[in-house]
Amino acid sequence: MNRGAVIPVIAIDGPSASGKGTVAKQVARALGWRYLDSGALYRLVALAAIESSVGWEDAARLAEIAGRLDVRFEGEEIWLAGRRATDAIRTEACSIGASRCAAVPAVRNALLDRQRRFREAPGLVAEGRDMGSVVFPDAALKVFLTASAEARAERRHKQLIDKGIPANIQTLLRDLQERDARDAERPVAPLKQLPDARLLDTTRLTVDEAVAQVLGWYRERAGAA
Ligand code: C5P
Repeated sequence: MNRGAVIPVIAIDGPSASGKGTVAKQVARALGWRYLDSGALYRLVALAAIESSVGWEDAARLAEIAGRLDVRFEGEEIWLAGRRATDAIRTEACSIGASRCAAVPAVRNALLDRQRRFREAPGLVAEGRDMGSVVFPDAALKVFLTASAEARAERRHKQLIDKGIPANIQTLLRDLQERDARDAERPVAPLKQLPDARLLDTTRLTVDEAVAQVLGWYRERAGAA
């Protein structure tokens, strides 16, 4: 029996620092569903690669790292090979590395089943770049969540400063734009709004408003199903 087919998924895709993590987490909490931060998996591959001095051009070794990633998600905490990696994967070096690893098809393949295993009753809110297109194409609701590059750079800046990590807003904006371009232009699983995804531009929305909109769309869909 294909249990996965009956377990609903809300897929939230969008560019870096669009706020999709915060929104997805709160939607999951409101529904009592599981939450998948797929970007964390790419970030973990990048962290492990940096620590083992594996270059971004070494596709075979990056895929090997992705395949045997020893990771544990525990509430807000992320553990890599028994070591806490929650903050280490959020540095700019890991952000840039993740987007490089993510352009390698074998890395994406190696992470596919691991992501699908998050689909457990009563439901899953999954966020990333290809949740609706590749990982959960049968998602009950697909949302493309975005915001202007300037708003996203400001949000990332605030996040880093709040954590005591030094950051420069111009550098962040440039890195974001480079990462957006790489994510959108890569041949495998590029970031794009699907025809069946609802567009949610959060430039002028609060987190609560964005969460309410996603929940509203889901209830509309679920009511109509
Ligand atoms: O979402 P986050 O910024 O943490 O993701 C880090 C990087 O991982 C992204 O820039 C993107 O290149 C990659 N990614 C991806 N597919 C996903 C999630 C993240 O390619 N589903």
